[in-house]
Amino acid sequence: MCGIFAYLNYLTPKTRKDVLETLIKGLQRLEYRGYDSAGVGIDSADGKGIVLVKKRGKVQALENEILDNGEGLAFDKTEDIHLGIAHTRWATHGVPSEVNSHPHRSGEENDFVVVHNGIITNYKEIKTLLIEKGFKFESETDTEVIPKLIKHIFDQHPHDTFRELVEQVIQQLEGAFALCFKSYHFPGELVATRRGSPLLIGIKSQTRLATDHVPILYSKELDVNRDHRPHVPERGVLERRQSTSEVHAENAPVEYFFASDASAVIEHTNRVMYLQDDDVAVVHNGALSIHRLKRGLDDTHAREITTLKMEIQQIMKGNYTTFMQKEIFEQPESVVNTMRGRVCFDDNTVVLGGIKDYIPEIRRCKRLMLIGCGTSYHSAIATRQLLEELTELPVMVDLASDFLDRSTPVFRDDVCFFMSQSGETADSLMALRYCKQRGALIVGITNTVGSTICRESHCGIHINAGPEIGVASTKAYTSQVISLVMFGLIMCEDSIAKQERRSEIIRGLKRLPDDIRTVLAKDNDCHNLAKELYEKKSLLVMGRGFNYATCLEGALKIKELTYMHSEGLLAGELKHGPLALVDSSMPVIMVLTRDSVHTKCMNALQQVTARDGRPILICEIGDTETMKFSSRCIQVPHTVDCLQGILTVIPMQLLSYHIAVLKGCNVDCPRNLAKSVTVE
Ligand code: F6R
Repeated sequence: MCGIFAYLNYLTPKTRKDVLETLIKGLQRLEYRGYDSAGVGIDSADGKGIVLVKKRGKVQALENEILDNGEGLAFDKTEDIHLGIAHTRWATHGVPSEVNSHPHRSGEENDFVVVHNGIITNYKEIKTLLIEKGFKFESETDTEVIPKLIKHIFDQHPHDTFRELVEQVIQQLEGAFALCFKSYHFPGELVATRRGSPLLIGIKSQTRLATDHVPILYSKELDVNRDHRPHVPERGVLERRQSTSEVHAENAPVEYFFASDASAVIEHTNRVMYLQDDDVAVVHNGALSIHRLKRGLDDTHAREITTLKMEIQQIMKGNYTTFMQKEIFEQPESVVNTMRGRVCFDDNTVVLGGIKDYIPEIRRCKRLMLIGCGTSYHSAIATRQLLEELTELPVMVDLASDFLDRSTPVFRDDVCFFMSQSGETADSLMALRYCKQRGALIVGITNTVGSTICRESHCGIHINAGPEIGVASTKAYTSQVISLVMFGLIMCEDSIAKQERRSEIIRGLKRLPDDIRTVLAKDNDCHNLAKELYEKKSLLVMGRGFNYATCLEGALKIKELTYMHSEGLLAGELKHGPLALVDSSMPVIMVLTRDSVHTKCMNALQQVTARDGRPILICEIGDTETMKFSSRCIQVPHTVDCLQGILTVIPMQLLSYHIAVLKGCNVDCPRNLAKSVTVE
């Protein structure tokens, strides 16, 4: 996840310093979306090119760099029209570095520069083609193909408008993107577009806007066969129509703010327009117009300009009060990002580019070892049973610290997976080095490209959950589980006996975002439950099978966020000791879904009720038989057994969040904890 921001002032005189400050402020607002490097692109002071300033690290580092360079950037020069683009990066392809930071450029002359949020899945094919045409690439990013591609098209069709060039580019792109383009061939003109990644436009006009709608202009579909001159709309017609698509009086001063979300815009204007997939927005001579290549069945004729009613503080975290809450509610989206470009629901194929070449070697191994700490370790517990089933290999799961304490024997024919959201956890890193020294194959499963675990692994899976800012891990957990499930599906893709099981799981993955939305709709139930529990001293969470990991992870969330004692228990172990804790005053949550261990779980439930326990159930929607045993139930949709834990863990995330709020705890920064534990 990255943040993009662009600013254009038309007939509103600004110093270059003002413009740069606006760009930096925009990036600061978007920094939660990515914070490993940042960059801006503005016209050079002599107007003959584009200057790029990029810096590794937080936006503050970029700001310092710009302030240090005030003279070179001609801070005091006032301009009537200016256009700058800016980006804060959260690395997906290529380590965080200046050269991998945005804006990316077409060549040393910087004649086209681009900022991008998203992932271009077919970038390798485009890159190969462009290298054959003589283009030289400087970064490891997927994004760099975009400025090079537009330059290539421009060289062939120098009379095309900026918008026509961008339309041809986006027809070649696969994946997700929000893009802002700037070019010195088209001074003062901004073209922006999106597909799959968010983008909105803030409009600040000193005069009343002439309309609340921006009409959509349709081009004929372009012929993208690069052997032919693309069929472009008759320019005269479009340009005449463009001039009538006014959103402000002709030649009236106006400012435009393009941003990944409203947090970067709200301090300037509350009048915004949300772009839709495949919209191409153009600002030309200060007028904004929206274009689409072809008319769809349910297309409207215009995009509405809406008035935001939010306060800036609200928008920083979306509508959420904390990053943790936001991250919990992002899960329908983050699980899609984990699967994007990897699971093909049409033909049941799964491809993980980062480990593809190592699959034959992994298939020949003697044992899989899954190693991590805390929540990441729980994601290994959550998937062990499925990996044993799909790979038919022994699967060992270990806490990194304990693994090292035991000097666990590791061999050349072991494959060791290191699960880590941050990719920097010292215990996991030490265990990784220990395994690597012994010749095992190392697979990193992280949420942070360029992290140490990423770099030191032989191969890996990037979980693509987006930046996780709340210290308590939530969306990274569900994405880690999905990453391991996808790995299991690849391992058994050739097994005829397992095809039915694979299809069942892939169908479950497809439904997952909607199922998660259904669980999130139970937020109020979790809140009510929290009101009942927040003054208790202790909370037991019980379950077995695929739901055991939910118990461990749920209890960890309760502990770290609410400082209340909590224990995750394997229901099968109840009678071997923990049952002694149960009485009418001990809160017990039981996770009871309709899988192969349901009957055994029901036995545990009866053991609890027989001791006057009053269990709270997390069970399946409509399972009236199970619900008879308790008046307090959180119901989740039924899904395939191995994915059920993703749905049962979310009520535990919500519950711990609400208990923490009721107790007045700092949800995003629980006491004594840090997001990335870089000491052993
Ligand atoms: C709990 C939590 C921690 C981390 C653990 C490992 O909510 O976030 O338990 O899971 O510190 O961190 P990573 O995954 O970054 O290696």
